[in-house]
Amino acid sequence: MSELRIEARQLCKNYGSLVAVDQLSFEVGTGEVLGFLGPNGAGKSTTMKMLTGFLAPSSGTALINGHDIVTDSLAARRCIGYLPEGAPSYGEMTVRAFLEFVARARGFAGKRALNAAGAAIERLNLQGVVEQPIETLSKGFKRRVGLAQSIIHDPQVLILDEPTDGLDPNQKHEVRHLIRDMAEEKIIVISTHLLEEVHAVCNRAMIIADGRLLVDDTPAGLIARSRYHDAVTLVVEQPERVASVLSELPQARKVELREGELTVFPAPGQRLFEVVSDTVRENRWAVAELRLEAGRLDEVFRQITRGEVS
Ligand SMILES: Nc1ncnc2c1ncn2[C@@H]1O[C@H](COP(=O)(O)OP(=O)(O)OP(=O)(O)O)[C@@H](O)[C@H]1O
Ligand SMILES: [Mg+2]
Repeated sequence: MSELRIEARQLCKNYGSLVAVDQLSFEVGTGEVLGFLGPNGAGKSTTMKMLTGFLAPSSGTALINGHDIVTDSLAARRCIGYLPEGAPSYGEMTVRAFLEFVARARGFAGKRALNAAGAAIERLNLQGVVEQPIETLSKGFKRRVGLAQSIIHDPQVLILDEPTDGLDPNQKHEVRHLIRDMAEEKIIVISTHLLEEVHAVCNRAMIIADGRLLVDDTPAGLIARSRYHDAVTLVVEQPERVASVLSELPQARKVELREGELTVFPAPGQRLFEVVSDTVRENRWAVAELRLEAGRLDEVFRQITRGEVS
């Protein structure tokens, strides 16, 4: 299989005086599942629309497997499956008719179109609603129809704008499983507001705000930026007393009491978990919970997008 590649080169999109996407450059390769994170209005959907050829960049461009999205748009679009934000159009069509229509538009003829539609129906568990007009489906089912049309031609590159938005917990789980399943031989770019989704499916994450790339890292790298990384949190009776003892530990930089939880932050280069659990045992404190913190992605997200220190 040839190497797949997305290359965004200084992508820009202006709406009047608003700069929605500002000089975005990045490369993505086979096997990468890249998550776009960012606040509302950050420019995630706009970037995805440009990558998929639905929106012309104001300047800059992107190459999809070497095909320029501006000058060679058709070839670029052939490599791509795209789940746009919102619900599929063609609301009056039944699910089956719509997916067969998409399959034919993607170049499948006769029986092969029916088979492609059938396979997508099965992968997204749509068997129960195939004869229903799309506009009569619930939000989550509409989303699944959108996902089904995006994978119908087994594209090399998948661009999914909030793929699990509106899905129930079981379907979220299924769709994340599906994404991981397909990831090895494709490039997958998703946008999401669910930070746990980044952990569950992505091996790379980009944080975007005001159209600009702020961070490009692995999920583990992101979480390690949290000030909670390697901290120890306890839920304990008489937390004030416990806090004053723990704050005397030479390995502790700081102790914070917040919403009934006590968090001890390590001094630079120090490990805390053992010494804290030893201290708990020695003092026979009644501890309901004691945990080593990996880091908190929501706090990292806030810090990076709002320059906030919690
Ligand atoms: N057609 C348009 N005309 C004018 N402004 C637009 C248009 N489409 C998007 N914008 C603006 O561009 C900016 C980026 O929007 P975009 O939809 O890309 O954000 P997003 O990161 O996908 O946000 P969300 O998390 O809410 O989906 C926003 O300020 C938005 O209002
Ligand atoms: Mg969006």
